[in-house]
Amino acid sequence: MADLEGNLNAKNFHTETPTPDYGFHVKGASHLDFGMKRRLSRIFQADGRTVMLAFDHGYFQGPTRGLERVDLNIVPLGPWADALMGTRGIFRSSFPADGNMPLVVRASGGPSILRELSDEHVALDMADAVRLDSSAVAVQVFVGGEHESRSIQNMTTLVDQGMKVGIPVLGVTAVGKNLVRDSRYLGLATRMIAELGAQMVKTYYCEQDFEEVVAGCPVPVIVAGGKKLPVPEALDMAYRSIQAGAAGLDMGRNIFQRQSPSAMIQAVRGVVHDGLNVAEAVEQYRELSGGLTD
Ligand code: 5RP
Repeated sequence: MADLEGNLNAKNFHTETPTPDYGFHVKGASHLDFGMKRRLSRIFQADGRTVMLAFDHGYFQGPTRGLERVDLNIVPLGPWADALMGTRGIFRSSFPADGNMPLVVRASGGPSILRELSDEHVALDMADAVRLDSSAVAVQVFVGGEHESRSIQNMTTLVDQGMKVGIPVLGVTAVGKNLVRDSRYLGLATRMIAELGAQMVKTYYCEQDFEEVVAGCPVPVIVAGGKKLPVPEALDMAYRSIQAGAAGLDMGRNIFQRQSPSAMIQAVRGVVHDGLNVAEAVEQYRELSGGLTD
């Protein structure tokens, strides 16, 4: 009994009314277990927000520009990120083991960019996530994609395993080429991911009604960066996302493909944690980068 009409008519999101936190700073997490809360608290700061640095692109597309040498390009950015999102292969091979940065570890994979991307499987055993000291695992969910159902099953499998050991799951909405990134689609995908158990959701920003996507999702919504944009546009997207209620950003190319990745991640932090507006954040990038504009 699919109710498409009900779906189209869903409008009463009460975007002006914040979701109650029931005494814990991470949205929707107040009733979780102690260990799960501790891990979420490493990722989300006291303001309930996070700046994640995503560099797991190699898991399906090989050595992306800016990620040719993770040891040189990404490791030095660690101090400015609230959490690092990467693969177990890169963490084990290219990161120092003596840091205490929270790790969000890629747990799905399979096809390369040469194939159908939705054809993923679970690609990480939860026992290995524990060995790695993961603060969370991340799984791609292809709502509307060819392998939609399996990708959901990948996620629910990881959620069930994560519940046993106290590791939260980040469900990532993967938008296929033929799907429109509008609030109806993103609202559908984020809500499905949350309802089926993920403790946080990563999705794209959309211009129209993004606050409804956030309000309709009972767990934190973290916005993906996407392709590199000019500095003011990338910071504008960050600002609008936060204004719409997002719990943070998980940016990759918009940070590591910059002329000054360290200046950019600090400018993004300014928007997410320090209340900078777009003009102030652009100025911060310019100042910290020694006058660069890209
Ligand atoms: C792929 C991912 C990537 O980690 C991430 O979204 C890529 O980051 P960016 O788009 O900001 O370069 O989850 O779906």
